[in-house]
Amino acid sequence: MQKRASKVRVSAPGKIILTGEHAVVYGFPAILAAVNKRLVVEGRRIGKQTKIKVLKSDIPIGAGMGSSAALAVASAAAQIALEEKRWDLNNINSIAYESEKKYHGNPSGGDNTISTYGGLLWYRKEAESFKTFRRIIPKTNLPNLFLVNSGIPKETTGEMVSKVADLCSRNPKKINRILAKIEEVARKFLNLLIEGNGDWNELINENEKYLELLGVVSETGRNLIRGIKKIGGAAKISGAGGITNGSGMVLIYHRDEEKLRSFCENNNLEILPVKLGGEGVRVEK
Ligand code: PMV
Repeated sequence: MQKRASKVRVSAPGKIILTGEHAVVYGFPAILAAVNKRLVVEGRRIGKQTKIKVLKSDIPIGAGMGSSAALAVASAAAQIALEEKRWDLNNINSIAYESEKKYHGNPSGGDNTISTYGGLLWYRKEAESFKTFRRIIPKTNLPNLFLVNSGIPKETTGEMVSKVADLCSRNPKKINRILAKIEEVARKFLNLLIEGNGDWNELINENEKYLELLGVVSETGRNLIRGIKKIGGAAKISGAGGITNGSGMVLIYHRDEEKLRSFCENNNLEILPVKLGGEGVRVEK
């Protein structure tokens, strides 16, 4: 008989949100992409208990890159692997979603889903118990995208989601109009990815405009984004954002990489190249 494994290493990716953050909480679609930054946990079976330790992570924490979801997904998967249950992504995703709820209150479930399945997903939370998603296979190679940290937000994701919820209850018509506009951007983005029709610069800037109208981008974040626009690029926050200090990672597109690099150098900004479409949760050898 094969001996039961007592130790396992599992990794899960971080993510960026191409479009649809906040709107996704209200049932609008989002396009999510796993990235080439991962978190690794080690699970150990001690007696009847499973202990999880985080070994390492190159996903920046609290910057809108889904580090908490990656931890939830990797931990759920390590537990399943050690308890010799069937390696079922659906199950891993549901367990991770439950821990995300404890942590964030009312998440869309997008972060844990993209970290579980990887790649690029069109994601929708139709209802608490009914979430749909489908893999997007881009027609052509994706352009080079970059991340620059506008500063760790003071507010948590849960607080940012509550702020938008407050706005929504005070002014439902206005906020619904903005969310519907974000859905239009998501549809145009989908078309760009699967048909190659559209413009990265325009769509990223358009999405950012609506996020600013939702009030989730701080002055620091807006200044950085404006600077990038001035040199001909496009930038948006990716994730919940932040109001008081920074707004987390800003996702950047620029046709002329050298121009962007010299802008960042002149402004003492660290630039992080990011590859979209990373693999989902996996057991490490
Ligand atoms: O900032 P993050 O990585 O936690 O992303 C949050 C995305 C939101 O749409 C604001 C919330 C959610 O649950 O989808």
